Amino acid sequence: MTEVETSIATAPDAGGDPAPVLRVRDLSVSFHGAERTVHAVDGVSYDLAPGEVLAVVGESGCGKSVTSMAVMGLLPPTARIGGSVTLDGQELVGAPEKRLRSLRGRRLSMIFQEPMTSLNPVLTVGRQITEVLRRHQGLSRSAAGERAVELLGIVGIPAPRKRVDEYPHQLSGGMRQRVMIAIAVACDPAVLIADEPTTALDVTVQAGILDVLRSLRDRLGTAIVLITHDLGVVADTADRVLVMYAGRPVEQASVDELFASPKHPYTRGLLGAVLRPGSRSAGGRTRLNEIPGLVPDLREQPAGCGFAPRCASADADCLTSRPPLRQVGDSHLIACYHPAGPAGADPSRPDASKGTVR
Ligand SMILES: Nc1ncnc2c1ncn2[C@@H]1O[C@H](COP(=O)(O)OP(=O)(O)O)[C@@H](O)[C@H]1O
Ligand SMILES: [Mg+2]
Repeated sequence: MTEVETSIATAPDAGGDPAPVLRVRDLSVSFHGAERTVHAVDGVSYDLAPGEVLAVVGESGCGKSVTSMAVMGLLPPTARIGGSVTLDGQELVGAPEKRLRSLRGRRLSMIFQEPMTSLNPVLTVGRQITEVLRRHQGLSRSAAGERAVELLGIVGIPAPRKRVDEYPHQLSGGMRQRVMIAIAVACDPAVLIADEPTTALDVTVQAGILDVLRSLRDRLGTAIVLITHDLGVVADTADRVLVMYAGRPVEQASVDELFASPKHPYTRGLLGAVLRPGSRSAGGRTRLNEIPGLVPDLREQPAGCGFAPRCASADADCLTSRPPLRQVGDSHLIACYHPAGPAGADPSRPDASKGTVR
């Protein structure tokens, strides 16, 4: 076992955390087209304990959705997937589609980034919920109908008995997102992946939806992977944070540790929005900061750190050799030769022995 493997596999505190329900190890995804290959995800690992909320953050295009679709087994055939994803100890990478289908919606669910394109416009919302219940739980038509009404109530839809017979176009964006959540949680999944579930919604609707997710976690012990651009959401909802850059994990820590002591220059750049006074945008949301420069082209895998071209601390090593993910504190991992704060010299750095670390 490598150093990183050991540190990820160890529960965040020594207080006897339950075994992880979802375990992702060294996940990689590349898309092979006729003309080009895109390395969308490289080396993502995390554990998710029951009831735990992991926030995944990073700029657009850094591989958050592709990572989640890989976990769900929903990538197109052009995707090549490496590494391992286990749910309740069962390997999902390379598992037969039939097995994945029986897990999806039952043990493992996802709220997609685009609620409008994920709902079926010609079926009532009730029908879309009862279909899942009947398929996975074998409920009778009337029992499934009752449960659908109950679920709409749980996700905060007023007058659920009336709404259950409506079509998606009759509902507002926020209500459609709640229907998506009702479908996703209909069978009490062990793991729920929410891909920017509130990005398109206004602040009050957003708060309501986050309340729904938190109450699910509290009531059912649902483990949640929450992909978001919103630092307020991360601070309020997550237990741990995974920061991704250009398809790779660059920092992972508990939410308190990450906000108190962000170490990767990229994370520090993202958090600039909360560190700088007056940076709250309209509506009270605190968005991730804009960092000058462009996310690299994922068709080429850089030899060194993907962030080096945008990083004020980068030196020659950063451009030529990729910093490995390493432990810098209690379940705090970073991939950087120049971490901020008192982390000290990086022993994995090529010239660390020469004592030239800043
Ligand atoms: N089906 C696909 N074929 C080729 N490239 C893809 C496909 N889906 C996503 N990508 C690429 O993978 C990278 C990561 O995308 P994504 O995971 O959607 O980013 P985000 O972090 O914004 O969710 C992007 O460069 C995107 O263009
Ligand atoms: Mg996305």
